[in-house]
Amino acid sequence: ITNTTFSLNRPSVHFTPSHGWMNDPNGLFVDKNGTWHLYYQCEWTRLTAAANGCIDCTVTPNADCRQPDCAVAGNQHWGHATSPDLYTWTNQPIALFPPNSTSGVFSGSAVIDANNTSGFFPDQDDGVVAIYTLNTPTLQVQELALSYDGGYTFTPYEGNPVLDVGSNQFRDPKVVWYEDHWVMVIAYSTEFTIGIFTSNDLKTWEHASNFTDMGLLGLQYECPNLIQVPVWENGTATGDLAWIMLISINPGAPLGGSISEYFPGTFDGYTFTPYDGAARISDFAKDNYAEQYFFGTDPSEAISIAWASNWQYTNVVPTGDEGWRSAMSLPRYNYLTKVERTGWEMGSLPYKQLDAVKGRQFSYDQDFGNNSVTIDYSNVTSGAMYFSANITLPEGGVLDATSTLNLTFSSSAGDRLRAGYIFGGSNAGVGWIDRRYTLGYGEDDPLFTDRFSVAGVALAKRIEGVIDRSIFEMFIDDGAFSGTSVFFPQEPLNNLTVQTGGMPEGSRIEIAVWELDSAWQ
Ligand code: FRU
Repeated sequence: ITNTTFSLNRPSVHFTPSHGWMNDPNGLFVDKNGTWHLYYQCEWTRLTAAANGCIDCTVTPNADCRQPDCAVAGNQHWGHATSPDLYTWTNQPIALFPPNSTSGVFSGSAVIDANNTSGFFPDQDDGVVAIYTLNTPTLQVQELALSYDGGYTFTPYEGNPVLDVGSNQFRDPKVVWYEDHWVMVIAYSTEFTIGIFTSNDLKTWEHASNFTDMGLLGLQYECPNLIQVPVWENGTATGDLAWIMLISINPGAPLGGSISEYFPGTFDGYTFTPYDGAARISDFAKDNYAEQYFFGTDPSEAISIAWASNWQYTNVVPTGDEGWRSAMSLPRYNYLTKVERTGWEMGSLPYKQLDAVKGRQFSYDQDFGNNSVTIDYSNVTSGAMYFSANITLPEGGVLDATSTLNLTFSSSAGDRLRAGYIFGGSNAGVGWIDRRYTLGYGEDDPLFTDRFSVAGVALAKRIEGVIDRSIFEMFIDDGAFSGTSVFFPQEPLNNLTVQTGGMPEGSRIEIAVWELDSAWQ
């Protein structure tokens, strides 16, 4: 299947599995040729199960296997796709298989062992080691699989498991290189603890420290990342780097279900110390989980992808009728910045501003002030659009509750996906997303929370967003705040109305809209 095959919900510039089920991104790395590798939790064995009436559609997707019940989590594998630009993906064969039908290859990471620290790769500098959790009915243990062909095929290490603490709640190893040794962060999920382990050869791991009972606990910790990100000041990189501990929690997020939180701090190779005890959430909506960072990028570029869904309703959303479930978030550049009063904030922006997939610039590059315009984009066959709004306010101009920027994406069936920003009154500084009037799913599901908002202290100077058939991502002030929200319309959205009101004289709002498209294989 390619994403150019029309479907109501399948996004164009966000990765989706060709068929079957997908959750967390795994094993993200960029190789020495600049090819990006995305592995992901996938389940396709159900599609072959006679009991489901499905045929083997692992090679050629077939209409017969488009049954919603087939596209749910189960006997987890690692699917694989590659990309030159993080937007245009080529599906690759399944990379990791569980040894039997009662176990699963759960989440994990991958590294390039360029210096052969493991001894597995005496004759090459591009050996890849995947480090993942093997989940069985009684245990979760950590295993390695080796790739001698740059990440396309893997063989399980014969000395597996490499880490077994006798627990059935111990998972999602993420490995990075620190000066002269490997570092693994891993979740003791139900103990609200992230273990930090070290190794010289990826085969023997020593416990170094624990990061425990911090922030929002939810009911489980999952998918930790310990990464370096660039520090920005007033919108530009300072050249400094900071460490971030990122933890996914599920269930029990403040808005329900799953979300990620993060802690900026310092790391000495063995122990992570947060700057403060605050729990900071990385997304203000509900569909951004299990975010993972790429191995192999320059430290000045911290690039990640998250699973754009939520365990509360992921198994029942209507993309199952199209034979697949779940999209990844856009690839994001991440950074840490200081914001007024509330302190550190992790920001994220679409990687390279989506340049690889930007098409026609739609219409608006004009001064807006108080105005309204409707753009009919029904001839944009990808259904994907990127908009940006640069805002300049006059000094001393009076703002009130009516000073707003509103965006409405609508369909001929009456679907409306709305988003906006409030410049004045008691909600000054609030950005919001409203998926209530997307009519294909949600009305009867109390867990499919339909409105989200976030508040910043300073007024936004820039608001950006991407709409892509069934997913919307919004970025306020270079992504200091971002929201990721899926939605399911009854008909394709194909009109965008941008409207501003209550802006004082001398306000300028420059709106630009691009169509987006990418061709996958
Ligand atoms: C997070 C998670 C991980 C686990 C994987 C299984 O979404 O629950 O903790 O490894 O999914 O698919």
